[in-house]
Order: sequence, then structure tokens, then C-alpha cells
Amino acid sequence: MLYIDQVDIEGKTLLIRVDFNVPLNGDIITDDNRIKAAVPTLKYSLEKGAAVIVMAHLGKPKGKVVDELSLAPIAARLGELLGMDVPLAPDCIGPEVEKMASNLKPGQIMMLQNLRFHAEEQGKTPEDRGDFGKKLAALADIYVNDAFGVAHRPNASVVDVPYAAKECCIGFLLKKEWEVLGEYLKHPERPYLAISGGAKVSSKLGILTNLIGKVDHFIIGGAMANTFMLAKGQSIGKSLCEPDLVDTAKEILDKAEAAGTKLHLPVDFVWGLDTDKPAGVCGEDNVPEDAMLLDIGPDTIKNFIEVISSSKTIVWNGPMGLFENPEFAEGSMAVCKAMSENVGTTIVGGGDTDAVVHKANLQNSFSFISTGGGSFLEFLEGKELPAFKALKENM
Ligand code: 3PG
Repeated sequence: MLYIDQVDIEGKTLLIRVDFNVPLNGDIITDDNRIKAAVPTLKYSLEKGAAVIVMAHLGKPKGKVVDELSLAPIAARLGELLGMDVPLAPDCIGPEVEKMASNLKPGQIMMLQNLRFHAEEQGKTPEDRGDFGKKLAALADIYVNDAFGVAHRPNASVVDVPYAAKECCIGFLLKKEWEVLGEYLKHPERPYLAISGGAKVSSKLGILTNLIGKVDHFIIGGAMANTFMLAKGQSIGKSLCEPDLVDTAKEILDKAEAAGTKLHLPVDFVWGLDTDKPAGVCGEDNVPEDAMLLDIGPDTIKNFIEVISSSKTIVWNGPMGLFENPEFAEGSMAVCKAMSENVGTTIVGGGDTDAVVHKANLQNSFSFISTGGGSFLEFLEGKELPAFKALKENM
């Protein structure tokens, strides 16, 4: 891997791919963590005397100009964070953009308009993507990828620009993601624990399959645990589950046993008749017929905390219950707190999990919070992400 601080960038124009796909309420950015996370690379580049062109996507405009998905509010926020004006180009390519780019002086920055206003950005085949990547690359001397959040998408700005660019390297955000997820997790300190939660086993199958055998312990919570309960022959009332995955869950239980990975499932639950308020706590053997299991119960919390406190490396993705309702957030908060108190290496990723950590205000108590959602999951599934493949072949 070639990192930005190993490349001579002084006097050069950099085209930096970032992931500024942040949640917006109208013009208001409701969470600017992704913008903040790219600031170190941008500041470093400007201070080293490079001219910087930032490129990013927002939402899913599907190849059309959608005014609500303009990067204008994001350019403004970035300007505030950098303490300088960040002019927004009217497009990503074309004569006007080329003129703005060629007028850019060392230490100055500009931002391209939403890449996804062009259908080519997300074209499925190289033919669909055409020469969009080449046109972007031609704006600068060096391509810098600092966009882990979109590293799993084979988009032109991710997979084509590296082939067309004169030189490529990796920014500080992507470097950290690579060092933690790509390098550290190959040889983690043990005991190594994975925690998975959220609604669906189907969306976590890849992680379960890849990590069982590699981790010493695997905690499963959230509604995905319900399918495992069914696999063990236990009843789950009217709870969310995936009946067609019961056999797969059985196979996972067997595989874990054979591979020496200890699987930890909930032994009790907070349940409700609806998702509004809890009706009580029940054990795994006495789930009421009309119950919806909506959070892990106190005995489970105790068990999970014990596993968490005795682990030296922990990777967590997915909440333990319906945490959006504070009545069912206790399990997720308890896991979050126990992890934050662990002195080992604690890694968190995914939008919901990140939301739990911020809700608990414990974001500064983890070793690493990934900026990836889908890309974090795919990394943990053991896949080679398209961004890394393209970079490796061109650095
Ligand atoms: C994300 O928010 O996970 C990334 O920016 C990728 O966005 P996408 O899921 O719209 O491709």
C-alpha cells in the first residue's frame, strides 16, 4: 500500500475520493462524522502545498441531476471545518470544471458536484461506465482514495480512476481502516470475540461463515438470534425471524461447535405485545405465545458482559434489540458500555452500531470506529473490496 505521506504531493493537483454520503434533513447535515473523518487527509494535502479536488457522491440520484442531492451543504460544512472557502463546481467533468481545476493554486481546494448525477459513475460494466473515470482522472496529477464507505462499490470513481490516473495513493482515513481491518484482524490478540446483532441472519450470513473458526467467541443478539432459537427448537412467540434460514442456522451452530468457536445466544428477553412498550422479561424456555422479543434480558446482559470483559479483541456490528426505542435499548447500551471499558482492541462498524455508540456518547472510548457500513460488513465477510483491488493494481 502506498500512503499519501509517502508520495511527493507538493505543487501537484490531487483528486481525492471521499465518502461524504451523510444524512441530510433538507439542507441540514444531521451527522457530519464522515466529513470530519476526511479532514486530516485534506488538511495535510493543503498544508503540503497541493491543490485539492474533492469528489464524492450523495444518495441515489440514479444518473439524474436531483437538486436536493447537491453537494452544496456538504461543501459549505467542509469549508467551516477547514476554515476556508470550498467552491463547488457545477458538474464533475466538462470544460467549466476543467477550467476551475486548472486555475486551482497550491493550498486551494474545490469540490466536484455529486458524482452520481452521471449514470456512468454506477454503470454495472466497464462499457456502461465508459470513459467517465478517465475524464475524472485527467483533472489531476494524483488520485487519492480516502473513501472507505464506498470501497465495496465498483463505481467509476473507485475502480476506474486508479487505472487512468498518473499516480495513486491512499489517504489517512483509508489507511487506518486498512491497518485495523485488513492487517490487525489477521493476527488479533486473543481471546477474539465477534458480536453480531440486528434484524436479519441473512444480512450477516457472510460474516458468520467467515468468522466462525477464526474467532474464539461469537455473541449473537438482536432479532437475528430468534432464528437461532428456532433452530434450537425453542419458541419465539410472534417475534421477527427468518423461518427459511432455520436449517442454515442449525448448520452454523454445528460448524461453530466443530471449529471451536463458542457461540453465545440470549437466554432471556425483554418482550412486548407491540414495539411501543415492554410487557415483561421471559426466559428462553417460557416465551409467551403472543410475545415479540425486542431486547436481550438481564441474565443475557450479564453473560455477554462476562465474555466481553475477558476478550482482548472485539469486533461489533448490529444492535442487540430495537434500540431506536429507549425502552428496548438497554441490551445494546450494556454491550456498548462493556466494550468501551475493555482495554483491548475494540472495533465497531455499521450505521446502526455507530448510532448506538453515539447515543451512548462513548465514541471516544473505542479503539476504532469504522466509517464503513456495507463496506465494513463486506470486509468482515473476507471479500476483497473493489477499491483495494484497483488500488493494489495501480500503486
Ligand atoms: C454508504 O453510505 O454506505 C456508502 O456511501 C455507499 O452508499 P450506497 O449504499 O448508496 O452505495
